[in-house]
Amino acid sequence: MSANPFLDPALVHGDLYRTDDRLAERTRALRQAKIAGRDAAQVIVDLLAQRTSPVAVVLDIGCGRGTTTLRIAAGLRPRRLIAVDTSAALLDTVRTRLAQANEVGSAVCADFHHLPLPDAMADAAVAAFCLYHSATPAAVVAEIARCLRPGGVTVLVTKSLDSYAELDQLVQAANLDPDATRRPSLYESFHSDNMVALAATHLTVLDVLHERHVFEFADATHLARYLATTPKYRIHSAGGPANLAAILQERLPVPPYLTQSTVSYALAVRP
Ligand SMILES: C[S@@+](CC[C@H](N)C(=O)[O-])C[C@H]1O[C@@H](n2cnc3c(N)ncnc32)[C@H](O)[C@@H]1O
Repeated sequence: MSANPFLDPALVHGDLYRTDDRLAERTRALRQAKIAGRDAAQVIVDLLAQRTSPVAVVLDIGCGRGTTTLRIAAGLRPRRLIAVDTSAALLDTVRTRLAQANEVGSAVCADFHHLPLPDAMADAAVAAFCLYHSATPAAVVAEIARCLRPGGVTVLVTKSLDSYAELDQLVQAANLDPDATRRPSLYESFHSDNMVALAATHLTVLDVLHERHVFEFADATHLARYLATTPKYRIHSAGGPANLAAILQERLPVPPYLTQSTVSYALAVRP
């Protein structure tokens, strides 16, 4: 197993996204905790809308549960919307959510290193919070560039290396993982500081945004819900989130628990 769980293919294409539950719960816990920072899906749509009108074909690479996909459908109204991911379960969620919202789009199971799409077929592409799952993100940028028509735009989104570092301290202080502060950042392969250089390998970068997001976990139960969904730590606590919450409550100072992350966006164009 890789030292970084986000770069471990067995985990990324196995337990991490095998079902919808883990990502859904992680997203819910974070959304409830957020006290500063714009909605990423809306920022992505706004960035694309500034540069493209109208867009015929849009790709959402590493679409996850389709949160960005849905926002693209509603905000850009493309003629063709293709969501790509390796997780069959998450693609099912995307199909269901699109149908529930009466939006049209297709969900394709594929690895973003080898997109089963023709050259120059897309006007726009998004790769949000997924390129840090590749040990060779420049190769994925090359694939995205290949699928874009000349002049086609892309928004790449990631987080800073130090995202949620305050939680490392809390996990270590609670003695749940004595090495928590020494674990590699989950975002080490594609992060706020190398994003532009990697994008520039195959694209012309037009604009870059770095936005600070702040999170306040109200109590031990709320924090446990998030910690139970992140693969970063080696937490051995039987009994699931309820037991984890009890341990946190006993060992940590009184809540709330604050943490932060920088979300970074690169708007780039295929030359
Ligand atoms: C955090 S989720 C992305 C969420 C989504 N883009 C959003 O903004 O809501 C990361 C996604 O990357 C996908 N992924 C990881 N490795 C991949 C690969 N090699 N090819 C395609 N998708 C991949 C995972 O299955 C997962 O759905």
